[in-house]
This record gives sequence, C-alpha cells and structure tokens, in this order.
Amino acid sequence: MDDKLYEAALKAYHNAYTPYSKFNVGTALLLADGKIVSGSNIENASYGLSNCAERSALFAAYSQGYRKQDIKRMLVIGSTDRPISPCGACRQVMNELIDPEVEVVLTNLHGDKKIMKVREFLPYVFSDGDLDGRV
Ligand code: THU
Repeated sequence: MDDKLYEAALKAYHNAYTPYSKFNVGTALLLADGKIVSGSNIENASYGLSNCAERSALFAAYSQGYRKQDIKRMLVIGSTDRPISPCGACRQVMNELIDPEVEVVLTNLHGDKKIMKVREFLPYVFSDGDLDGRV
C-alpha cells in the first residue's frame, strides 16, 4: 500500500506550485474506504500565504467529508537528503485532524524512509482539549 501512496504523493510533488522556493513537497493520505487523497505545496507572492503539502492534503480530505477516523496512513515526500520533516504548523494541524496512533511515512526522492506516529511529532501540544479543560 505504501507503493500506491508513494506514487500518489510523487504525483502531487510534481504538481506543486513553487515559483519562489522551487522546493516541491507532495503528500498522500490513505482513507478507510481505500481512496487516496493527495496535496501539494502551493505558494503565493505574499509568501506567508503559502500552504504546505501536508495541510493541502488534509484540507482536501476534510473538504470531501472525511474526518479523523477515516485517515489510516499518511506519506510525505520532498527532495531532501533525509526523509522530509513536516514543519511546525503542519504538525499542529496533523495533531488535530489525524488520530494520534496513525503512522506517517516520511520519505524523499531516494526512497529513504522514516515512520513516525502522529502523537510523536509535537510534545506537550496545545489542542482542542485545552480549550475546555479536557487535558
Ligand atoms: N513545505 C511543505 O509543503 N511541507 C514540508 O514538510 C516542509 C515545507 C513547503 C513550504 C514551502 O512551499 C516550501 O516547502 C519551502 O519551505
């Protein structure tokens, strides 16, 4: 299954809109119904408005009606020497939109791999539970 995810993420990698950084990233999500939703990083001349591939994919899945329990696996690819490392903003969003036990495959164009669970990305994370005293 990671082969299919890799292929979808690589396609999204090639579809990235990165005129400023020229640094492409692609993400693919495996859903409970077997579908794969992908996302690319999309930049803007107003740099801060750029969106990372991880968030593009997650927002696309949620926009199609999928929710936390539907996301079974995530794969992210970038042209890094080591497997790509998601930025802090994406880690915060991943924490809210994906189950903490889901595995995320971080990879690169050489096929190097690092697998982490969502809960490992951001220690002592601020979350929805802080808003109403559940944590
Ligand atoms: N970027 C991602 O899309 N995901 C990551 O994991 C790291 C960074 C994007 C943001 C920006 O478009 C470009 O890569 C350079 O930072």
